[in-house]
Amino acid sequence: MNNLDLIGMEKGRQYETIITTKNKDGSKNAAPIGVICAGNDKIINRIFKGSHTLDNIIREKEFTVNITHDSELFTISTLGNLPQDYFNEDCSIKTVKAYFKCEVIKLTEAIKQSDPIKKKDEAIVIKSRVVDLTIKENVQALNRAFGYVIETLTNFTRFDLVDETKKEEYLNHFREANRVVLKVGRKEDIKAMQEIKKELIKKGFEP
Ligand SMILES: Cc1cc2nc3c(=O)[nH]c(=O)nc-3n(C[C@H](O)[C@H](O)[C@H](O)COP(=O)(O)O)c2cc1C
Repeated sequence: MNNLDLIGMEKGRQYETIITTKNKDGSKNAAPIGVICAGNDKIINRIFKGSHTLDNIIREKEFTVNITHDSELFTISTLGNLPQDYFNEDCSIKTVKAYFKCEVIKLTEAIKQSDPIKKKDEAIVIKSRVVDLTIKENVQALNRAFGYVIETLTNFTRFDLVDETKKEEYLNHFREANRVVLKVGRKEDIKAMQEIKKELIKKGFEP
């Protein structure tokens, strides 16, 4: 069954994944890319021009989304190239717990106003259909919001113990965390940030 619900993906939320694609020469490429769940078997990506991933998706009209919490995989594929022996023949990454194949439905030029990167015509929005979901082990797709909530809570517990400069730093951290959580977080994460915000306001801050 190609149901994204099975890997914990909720409609409208964004998850961090590693997308693997085929290069022109037949070799394989991996890059961390955000995936917005647009329904049980639909996703949306926004990919900046100039990346191998975008070129490969435009050419091949298909790609693989790998679900993992492995920070080493994210790091190697961000800072350089994932070696070819990390890949299976079907383009998925060997060590991931789940992956799915996608077929492109539509490509659109776009910019999104809420993003810090606002250069015009620099990104392409890709809508795709999930055609084949493989679950090797139980796993939930990675959502960035949870880490932000935990960091914000940690800072909150230190607020009364630190000097003014550090308080300002924590407030700036809160604002950025809140921006990201509102954009990608689940209902629980957004609620958590609202609760923390209320407490900060009670303490006399303007988060
Ligand atoms: C967690 C994470 C998420 C990312 N999400 C996106 C994204 O949604 N769109 C995008 O264009 N780049 C995104 N990036 C940046 C790309 O991974 C980066 O530009 C990469 O170098 C592209 O590699 P490639 O040229 O092999 O495709 C993300 C990076 C990280 C670490």
